[in-house]
Parts: sequence; C-alpha cells; structure tokens
Amino acid sequence: MDALAHRKELIHILQMAYSGELAAAFAYAGHWRSLSDPQQKADIRKIENDEWKHRAMVGEMLAQLNGKPQLLREIMMACIGINAFFGCFMTGWFLPMYFAGRLENDNTKEYFTAANHAAHLGLQRMQTDLLELSEVELQHEAFFRQIVQGHAWLPLMMRLFTWGSPLTIDETIDDKQTDDLAIEALNFQPLAVENTDQL
Ligand SMILES: [Fe+2]
Ligand SMILES: [Fe+2]
Repeated sequence: MDALAHRKELIHILQMAYSGELAAAFAYAGHWRSLSDPQQKADIRKIENDEWKHRAMVGEMLAQLNGKPQLLREIMMACIGINAFFGCFMTGWFLPMYFAGRLENDNTKEYFTAANHAAHLGLQRMQTDLLELSEVELQHEAFFRQIVQGHAWLPLMMRLFTWGSPLTIDETIDDKQTDDLAIEALNFQPLAVENTDQL
C-alpha cells in the first residue's frame, strides 16, 4: 500500500470515527440518564465525556490531513445516536450495556488500524494519539464486559453476537494482535518526518 492509499484509508477511518463518536456520545447521554445506580450513572457519564473529547481530537486529526467530516454520515449517526438516547429508556438494563461493549470493541480495533496508517505516513504524534484512543476504547469495553458478566442473557448473546466472554484486558489486546494490520502498527518504525504537505 503506498502513501496515498494509507492517507485515503486514514481519512476514511477518521471520518467514520468522527461521526461514530457523535452517535456514541448521544447514546451514552441517554444511557446514564436511564440508569438508577449512582455509580453506574457516574461511570457512563464519564464515558460520554470521553467520547466528546475523542470527537474533538479526531476532528483535529482530520483537519491536519485536510479531510472533512461527511455531512450525510454526520446526519445519519446523529439520528442513530438520538434513537439510542431514547431507546435506553425502553430496552431495560442489559441490552444497552451489552451493545455498548460490542461497539467499543469495534472502536478499539478501528483506532488501532488508523494508528497503523498514521505510522506508515510517518505521523508519529497522530499514531501515538490514535493508540491512546484505542486504549481508552479498550478500557470502555472492559467496563461493559465486566458489568454484563453473570447476566442470564449473556450466554445467548455471546452465541449471537460473538462478544462478551470474560477476558482480561491483556487477553483482549492479544486478540487484537491477530489482526495483521495491528501487528504492523505495533512493530512499524516510521522513517519519514511528520509532514502532511508531502502527502
Ligand atoms: Fe470514543
Ligand atoms: Fe468509547
């Protein structure tokens, strides 16, 4: 894959992530308000705040690459997030917790892959920031993974949606390392100086 292809892929992932963070933030805004347990409310409110920060960071990365958010994607993800906001009040305790964890799993991998593309472009600071984002999403995932353990619906949901086993954080990282791109991202030593003008 050449530099142009890496740049194109990176911008695409960041555009998806930028709008995805909007949906996630709206969804969590409803999620924590729908809960009655004060600790769970506080934990998910913090996760909502993380997602707003992520969106701001990803927006800056996009600007650095001369990329822009996709308007239609923004509208679609805002609608999904608002639906999820209200859905959390109607679907009970388990489903929002489960699907939040499942989505956080995807976000972890998405940022990890983006970090790989940034590494290939010599964008070391962006690579570091993306790996940190991936790590925070992994912590979010670990929170939801831990909270759904022992629920009566979990075995069925694990069979249907292949997420929810009681892995440790380290084991989850190992699981990600089976992704070739992720392995490359971990081992890759960027040679180029950080300069988006050359791309
Ligand atoms: Fe996020
Ligand atoms: Fe997250």
